[in-house]
Amino acid sequence: MDFKIAVLSGDGIGPEIIDQAIKVINALGKKFNHNFHFTHGLVGAVAIDKTGNPLPAETLDLCKSSDAVLFGAIGDPKYDNNPAAKVRPEQGLLAMRKELGLYANVRPVTTFPSLIDKSPLKKEIVQGVDIMMIRELTGGIYFGKPQGRSEDGNTAYDSCVYSRFEVERVVRLACEYAMKRKKKITVVDKANVLATSRLWRETAGNIAKEYPELAMDFMFVDNAAMQLIQWPGRFDVIVTENMFGDILSDEASVLTGSLGLLPSASIGLSTSVFEPIHGSYPQAAGKNIANPLGTILSVAMMFDLAFNLKNEAEIIKTAVEKSIEADYVTEDLNKANPRSTSQVGDWIADYILKR
Ligand code: IPM
Ligand code: MN
Repeated sequence: MDFKIAVLSGDGIGPEIIDQAIKVINALGKKFNHNFHFTHGLVGAVAIDKTGNPLPAETLDLCKSSDAVLFGAIGDPKYDNNPAAKVRPEQGLLAMRKELGLYANVRPVTTFPSLIDKSPLKKEIVQGVDIMMIRELTGGIYFGKPQGRSEDGNTAYDSCVYSRFEVERVVRLACEYAMKRKKKITVVDKANVLATSRLWRETAGNIAKEYPELAMDFMFVDNAAMQLIQWPGRFDVIVTENMFGDILSDEASVLTGSLGLLPSASIGLSTSVFEPIHGSYPQAAGKNIANPLGTILSVAMMFDLAFNLKNEAEIIKTAVEKSIEADYVTEDLNKANPRSTSQVGDWIADYILKR
């Protein structure tokens, strides 16, 4: 089969981790006779430097005409402490979400038994944690209008806006995930305060009627933040709106101590985007030390969800597990005898070719 992949490496460690993902994709292409066509596009701070636009039209067209988007990271410290900057790398990410209709961000949070000691929580609490975190990505306070400042500059406002269909499609997707898992779904909201949350609760409750086998419960976001730390094992699928999901998915990502290993998929109306959940890690850029496993596992999600190549997806996951078992890992996981980013990528590509 032939597949067209848009490669958006972005900033910081983006290019070096994406290189490893490409090695893995090529190894699978060779082994299973698939043809993968890569086209690179600019996004983030590098795109601003070269074109003045964090998401040039050319990049957007490339994404739309591809079967999947492989995304590295965006963000550059030179913009972080400058509230006056007119264009920021993050605007590229938000525009891409909106333009591609990436309505659901899917992040599996799982434990790797050999890494459990890296968790900031007690072993008993994190053992066996397996959460599917689903965040709505194109609505809510991130995109609601009006947004701005009063004329005198002394008042500012953001609007949290949701329509029923936006809630329906993401909750339905979450229900489909739950059906293939432990059939439990927790809808996180703030329905005791927010009108949008009351719409979420009502809409989710109606969708639940389509899935009589599912157990759906509702939880306020403050309580959910607490329970994620106290008893993460109670969760199966979590679905929530954009801003709550932004915060809770960062919280969830550190539970298992494997931040550098966690992948994500942003499901689009036509094309979907696959990226590791860690950021651009500018301190490590160009040093060949960053952990490429989150990106490689994002490729596994791409094979599964965008290409429907389930067997190949499983092989990637196995290869990653083997590299961890062999302790052939970057310095975040092994300080005493670290391997470089490219060594880990080579090891995994080689494992796939030889198995
Ligand atoms: C994320 C990031 C973005 C977000 C930023 C960079 C705009 O934190 O992907 O979670 O808030 O959605
Ligand atoms: Mn975030």
